[in-house]
Amino acid sequence: MNTSHSAPIGIFDSGIGGLTVAKAVMKALPGEDIIYFGDTARVPYGIKSEETVRMYALQITRFLLEKGVKMILIACNTVSASAKEEIIQAAGDVPVLDVITAGTQAAIGFDNHSRIGVIGTLATVNSKAYERSIHEIEPQADVIQQACPLLVPLAEEGWVDNEIAKQTLSIYLKPFESKKIDSLILGCTHYPLFKEVIPEVLQDSDTIIIDSADSIALTSKQRLSELDLLNQNGGKFQCFVSDRPQRFQELAERFLGRDLTDVSVIGLN
Ligand code: DGL
Repeated sequence: MNTSHSAPIGIFDSGIGGLTVAKAVMKALPGEDIIYFGDTARVPYGIKSEETVRMYALQITRFLLEKGVKMILIACNTVSASAKEEIIQAAGDVPVLDVITAGTQAAIGFDNHSRIGVIGTLATVNSKAYERSIHEIEPQADVIQQACPLLVPLAEEGWVDNEIAKQTLSIYLKPFESKKIDSLILGCTHYPLFKEVIPEVLQDSDTIIIDSADSIALTSKQRLSELDLLNQNGGKFQCFVSDRPQRFQELAERFLGRDLTDVSVIGLN
């Protein structure tokens, strides 16, 4: 394990969406250096097989370990659903945190958690990873899942609060209308962009919206503090992508809330 305080945190995703996690980590841990990898050549992962996602995820893990990261955050829900155990094994003593565990802990942390809704990509929903993760802690909880594949392209297009976004959401969120869920986990990197509109479409202000990006940022702060690895003196953010750095830079503002300057291209295998 890299036990240097100044070592960077590694965050990775299938593409740009994981910048929502990077944004939350920067807010919670402004003194940390971060290395981000977005697999823009091979995105989306959400429609690929588990085997393929695992192979890609392990290549990225090796890349981050070579960069000397002190912790790895799996920002991608699809990767968390398909490859978490393999990544933990490959990372050895470098701690690995993932958005599914973080989102689960946040949902269970609320007093009312007997009916939990989860929205995610097809791969995440089909894997039932959220269901398993929630039932490990709370076997009685009712977990209602819904895949929302059209939300990723809508978010990248910036259509997060127009009529098309609202109509799409109202179709996807229909199953939750009759079920009266206590909370709804945003189980995909792109969904925090719909955070304002979802309560309006759900027409239920009591449902707690759970953003896994915030949850993983808090967990990583706790974990680094326990390991005595917090850094107060950094703050550098370096991005690597596998294709189209310009497009990544153009879209970054939407997901990160600020412009990006340091983006390099690197091929992995
Ligand atoms: N990053 C993915 C996730 O959180 C969404 C985009 C994709 O399908 O690759 O599941």
